[in-house]
Amino acid sequence: MKVGIEDICFYTASYYLDLQVLAEVHQIDVEKFYAGIGQEQMSMAAPDEDIVTMAAAAALPVVEGQDKSAIRTLLFASESGIDQSKSAGVYVHRLLELDPACRVVELKQACYSATSAIQMACALVARQPQQKVLVIASDIARYDLDSSGEPTQGCGAVAMLISADPKIMEVEPVSGLYTEDVMDFWRPNYRGTALVDGKYSTKVYLKSLKHAWLDYQQQGGHAFSEFNYFCYHQPFTRMAQKAHSHLLKQVGASLSAAEAEAQIADTLSYNRSIGNSYTASIYIGLTSLLENAEHDLAGQRVGFFSYGSGCVAELFSGVVQPGYQAHLHKDYHQTLLARRQSVDYATYRRLYDYPNPVDGGEHAIAAETTGPFRLAAISQHKRIYEKTAS
Ligand code: COA
Repeated sequence: MKVGIEDICFYTASYYLDLQVLAEVHQIDVEKFYAGIGQEQMSMAAPDEDIVTMAAAAALPVVEGQDKSAIRTLLFASESGIDQSKSAGVYVHRLLELDPACRVVELKQACYSATSAIQMACALVARQPQQKVLVIASDIARYDLDSSGEPTQGCGAVAMLISADPKIMEVEPVSGLYTEDVMDFWRPNYRGTALVDGKYSTKVYLKSLKHAWLDYQQQGGHAFSEFNYFCYHQPFTRMAQKAHSHLLKQVGASLSAAEAEAQIADTLSYNRSIGNSYTASIYIGLTSLLENAEHDLAGQRVGFFSYGSGCVAELFSGVVQPGYQAHLHKDYHQTLLARRQSVDYATYRRLYDYPNPVDGGEHAIAAETTGPFRLAAISQHKRIYEKTAS
């Protein structure tokens, strides 16, 4: 029995900052961002957008037309949770009008947890092939102003329906794993922005890739030559290029620079414009590959390297299914990216500094999002979500 991704769709926020604006304010050469870290723009959430509204918007095209009673589990992966107790997935469950006979839970391990959610989903579907699992990864990446991480902010959500009818990609069973207790990136409960030792985090990322690959081989995984493409976690897109060079060296592959780049190039396009979306970024990378590759990818094997600081990493593979093109949401994604509104530095700061009220009062939030759901108010510590007219 094949198990894997039946449908995949992403969403990002209504605004974006071109990194040219940040470069001018910081008086640095914009090529450091465009070429050095491989980022051009970063999505910025409007005050009435958050991980819940983006998640619901990503999942809406996936659940439309589905028999909702078959979706018996919703796994919500996020690093930027909005509540210490309640799963953000429960709000999404209501906004999507899913069946009450559904389990909902939130998973956390920095940028890694969506991969764990996919593996858990595949296991559930393997036990009961008639059920489907909705996996949603949604995050807003926030670093301190003027920190090295600032140009690597962004936000986005991706929804994947995991089932025994994987119209997009079969997830193969072997995984390589690596866990080590390190402090490369973390966010204590009292902080709104992440703490990060950026250079150290890139080193741990590469070390984890090496160990996950070795474990993958030990577990009986495919040889490097059996892979056609690689999709990496992309905190910034240059990281994927660094990671791929590292893997090529490790396996002793003799590919030309152009051949190596061709294995990852199409995974980078969307994230160059969206920025870091933590848990969602690797699967937005998959969407980018599927929607931007010039040739038919049917039968092609994609390697995935998922990394979450702290750290947990997993390397696994998937095989793209014949006819996948008919199930993509390419127009939805390209319209979404094209209609985002560019902001100047003052607006960026308004969005960045938008207050997060903690006084338990009544805080209505003005309508700004162009998406299908919005955070309308925070009232007596409760987040109030509603559908918009769009
Ligand atoms: N033109 C082209 N490239 C330029 C440049 C210019 N004018 N100026 C600098 N660069 C290059 C540098 O040579 C460097 O390339 P290299 O990585 O191949 O050596 C790259 O741009 C980044 O410059 P650097 O000075 O190292 O950047 P930084 O100290 O500001 O920080 C990170 C880079 C990634 C550490 C920082 O963005 C960060 O902390 N990010 C968040 C943490 C993160 O994402 N971790 C990843 C693991 S999850």
